[in-house]
Amino acid sequence: MYDVIIIGAGGAGLSAALECKKLKLKVLLVNKTYPTQSQTVQAQGGINAVIYENGYDNKNNHIEDTYISSKKISSKNRIKDMCNSGHEVINWLDKLGVPFSKDDKGTIRQRPFGGTKYLRTCYSSDYTGLKILHTLYDNCIKENIEFLDDHQLIDLLKEKELVNGVQVIDIQKGIIKNIYSKSVILASGGFSNLYLETTNSNSTTGEAISIAYENGAKLSNLEFVQFHPTSLNSSNTLISETARAEGAYLINSDNERFVDELKTRDVVARAIASEINNGKKVYLDFRHLDENKLKITMPQEIKLINDLLNLNIKNDLIPITPAAHYTMGGILTNVSHETSIENLYAIGECAQNNIHGANRLGGNSLLEIITSGKSCASKIEKKISSINCKIKDLDEKKKEIQSLIKKDGHKDLYKIKKLMKKEVSSKIGLFREKSEMKNSLKRLRELKEDYKECKIEDKSLIYNKNLLDYIELSHQLNLSELLIISALKREESRGSHYRIDYKEEKKEYEKISIIEKINGQIKHTFKAIDEN
Ligand code: FUM
Repeated sequence: MYDVIIIGAGGAGLSAALECKKLKLKVLLVNKTYPTQSQTVQAQGGINAVIYENGYDNKNNHIEDTYISSKKISSKNRIKDMCNSGHEVINWLDKLGVPFSKDDKGTIRQRPFGGTKYLRTCYSSDYTGLKILHTLYDNCIKENIEFLDDHQLIDLLKEKELVNGVQVIDIQKGIIKNIYSKSVILASGGFSNLYLETTNSNSTTGEAISIAYENGAKLSNLEFVQFHPTSLNSSNTLISETARAEGAYLINSDNERFVDELKTRDVVARAIASEINNGKKVYLDFRHLDENKLKITMPQEIKLINDLLNLNIKNDLIPITPAAHYTMGGILTNVSHETSIENLYAIGECAQNNIHGANRLGGNSLLEIITSGKSCASKIEKKISSINCKIKDLDEKKKEIQSLIKKDGHKDLYKIKKLMKKEVSSKIGLFREKSEMKNSLKRLRELKEDYKECKIEDKSLIYNKNLLDYIELSHQLNLSELLIISALKREESRGSHYRIDYKEEKKEYEKISIIEKINGQIKHTFKAIDEN
């Protein structure tokens, strides 16, 4: 019996695991791929923290920038907690071995990021997320933390209404396992993969969020999806905000700059999409910048541009387009990272913990995943002795999953997936409108029906990707439906949620949205921000 099972080994999960270990909790980290493949690597440009109170910047500025960017639907207290711990987090990461870019005196360098008043984003060239992830993973190995890679979450185990473990599938062997624990932390990332154009990997499919919902957890703010302004046209490979922070311009095919490149991502992404919708192309332009300096500050972007498009930043314009990057919504959590189900916690991108609101600041995700990972572990430790966990074997559920492989049907799983993504991308993207979303909701519900007629072609148990795709799609269809309902209900524009039929922000919607399943029915409400 574990004290804690963590689902997801990105920055949030690894930070929580290290803290659990420090607090002497018995912890298991379950991961559907490998820790080094987590989405944390996509936070390339840096991690926000006020580490020098130099008369210009201070923590209050960071708190204010975060709150303004959230468009007032966040908890100031929780933002405060995160921003106030920024310096400590950077020191912790520095000590663990993250190779931050530093000057000759050993001072950590910082760059500007969109929506911030001062240079506040600490970085490791343009590999910040990757370096943090690898350093955390190295430290977990050093601490002998137990990992279960290549295992995908199938369901939560519950005794009455208390979570007491997880049901997972061993992807390599096709075996279903029940693993018991006193608490479960979901740290499995967001659901940007519902979109055709996304910076996220194929494995970030959001099933843990859907599974939490099916088990009765409240989800919140699903309508807020962040589009990163700059992904490479052909592949949606992320070109980090580093590029604009280092001075690159955004220009259209008429050679005009059309937006302040360091506005918040919602504004910049919409401006780019408007140009594209008007038949123009949009480019990143580095030609006026010192190439030798860029080779130090953004080596990864230069290489990606060169390898993938055979273009050179010194002479060429780099064609870009916005892509779904981060979901602000997720499983609703309180200040202790508790969900609405007893013993179930959520941290990082899969959680909605009232910090990012309608629009996350670039560079705040890395800070948030580390602070929430560490604080979640310590909250659990304070409670652990009072958790009485019963084990009951759930053989019935195991059989149900095994029988899936034998399932027959005549619909094509992959066609349904493509249609779902097309629907979400075209109707719940940067610009949204009521009648189109209503039609989309209808079509998605039809796709949900079609899904029931899908067949799993591959009947083997060993590394059955077809089976995993089948399982994931059911959750993706679920989340698509909940996303559209949430986007339809918010009849205003706020941050990343932009309605062409309601272009203004409305005071009456200065609330978080909540969506939950009650007696098999979807229930949607709005609720005032909980400051605690
Ligand atoms: O552009 C970037 O480097 C992404 C950073 C983030 O999402 O925080």
